[in-house]
Amino acid sequence: MDSTKLLYDGKAKQIYATDKENEIIMHYKDDATAGNGAKHDQFAGKGILNHTISGIIFDMLAEAGVKTHLIKKLNDRDDLVRKAEIFPLEVIVRNITTGSFCKRTGCREGLVLETPIFEISYKNDEYGDPLINEYHALAMGLCTLEEYAEIKEETLKINEMLKEFFLRLNLKLVDFKIEFGKTENGEIVLADEISPDSCRLWDVDTNQKYDKDVFRQDIGDLIETYKAVLARMENK
Ligand code: C5P
Repeated sequence: MDSTKLLYDGKAKQIYATDKENEIIMHYKDDATAGNGAKHDQFAGKGILNHTISGIIFDMLAEAGVKTHLIKKLNDRDDLVRKAEIFPLEVIVRNITTGSFCKRTGCREGLVLETPIFEISYKNDEYGDPLINEYHALAMGLCTLEEYAEIKEETLKINEMLKEFFLRLNLKLVDFKIEFGKTENGEIVLADEISPDSCRLWDVDTNQKYDKDVFRQDIGDLIETYKAVLARMENK
């Protein structure tokens, strides 16, 4: 790939320009980070696994009517996607308590929530992506009220679809993070990726972790774990 066209070099992905103004390439790297970059490693083939897993999920969501940035898969690590201005928001849904929610609230781990919790964080590495609410987002001009409402509604729909999808793989969708962007024609689209990097997935029977927590907590082999998620998807 022509490195002169590199537009953005992120923790786990890169963005490249194309000849078309409104289309860019999203490239999956083998890097894994945790704790806002405090922990960093590389795992050969991780980018390919996440790209494949995310591709299957984005196709499933698109078929169900979700607008996404994905145009087409170019190879095993690259997607052609619609250029979209990404809202500086990490949009998180929690179905079962764990992670930063338990650290913040003292709530016990593994509590199945009566209703999903919808959270937003302000994407800002320097300040550790602080948790904010609707009022902050509007007052800080991160999105409009209408955009916020659309993002929230779409996210809760996506949660239901993903929960059902993973349950068929005998996995519980504990929580996940997604991102949205706005295209040149003002359409709000699901962007970034949905993979074991950005979701927590627990086996229904054993509660074994099938996500990046194996890296965050040093409790398993990341590549074998992600391969096992993909195998469940391919065998379903
Ligand atoms: O760490 P926390 O409990 O807030 O994470 C909630 C969910 O969001 C997890 O599925 C985690 O993988 C995801 N997440 C992410 N990127 C971040 C922060 C959280 O994908 N920067």
